[in-house]
Amino acid sequence: MTSTQREQNLMNTIEIIMSPAVSHLLEITAKTYSIDELEQCFLDPASSQPDFTSEPAWHDFVDQVSNAWKTNHHIVIRNMPTDNGMSTLLAALSLPARFKTYRGQKIVKHFKMSPWTEELSHTIKEGHFHTDINTAPIPPAATVIHCIKSDPDPKMGVSRVALLTDLINHLEEVGATETRKFLTETQVGMVDDRKHDAWSGLIVENDAIRFHPETLRAAARRLNSQPENLEAHLTQIHESALAVSEPIYLASGDAIFVSNKRALHYRGACTVKFTRFPREFQAREIYVLHLQEEPQWSV
Ligand SMILES: [Fe+2]
Repeated sequence: MTSTQREQNLMNTIEIIMSPAVSHLLEITAKTYSIDELEQCFLDPASSQPDFTSEPAWHDFVDQVSNAWKTNHHIVIRNMPTDNGMSTLLAALSLPARFKTYRGQKIVKHFKMSPWTEELSHTIKEGHFHTDINTAPIPPAATVIHCIKSDPDPKMGVSRVALLTDLINHLEEVGATETRKFLTETQVGMVDDRKHDAWSGLIVENDAIRFHPETLRAAARRLNSQPENLEAHLTQIHESALAVSEPIYLASGDAIFVSNKRALHYRGACTVKFTRFPREFQAREIYVLHLQEEPQWSV
């Protein structure tokens, strides 16, 4: 961890430092199974939980996660182990809900930021405040982002989380009533050109948000049905989300657990450090997974 990150003083984000005891439990378990075995196991409703989940240290960790989640809809977890995605998967068991799969039976995805792609998931360009998989009939309820390698420049690749309630309140405070109405009262289309997915409805409904500027823009191009001033609304939403969020620096091993319904998340521009141009470079690397529904902790 660099001094910049260590000195970070988060005001609105709850941080949990994973204890060495919990970290050790994850590392031991990660050595016992392959990631495919664990993914299969967690997708089988009849399978039992791994042994470490009965340990007191794990219960303490789950209590911390549950309290933070209920209070603030997002958490930064520091000092998790880094491996091939196993620890991402195991730590996410602290958010009890079904995992979302992709390509059939995979849960954890790996991304390395690249200067050679336009893909929003791993381009080095600045991202948007957004929710994930926003054109799905039912988007996932939670996103886990686990940083394995931080950006070569510790000031870059910054994350942010804007809570939906803070965003709406800010729009009211600055008199952006039309943009608030755009979010809460205007029927819009969203199109994901890559997945051939489309959805239409209200961006904010039942205290949940689904939002991505690019899927709104794609729908505007495709369906020609967006409200006027789309770009002005998107600019205002970005400015308000920036105003109500704070920079979060993730070092290697740090993770963000974030609601995909009650918050937008964002990643700033990244850098790469070439070791051998053009193909070999150091860059931010993350594991990502999603949970299908709201986590439920049994008391
Ligand atoms: Fe995302």
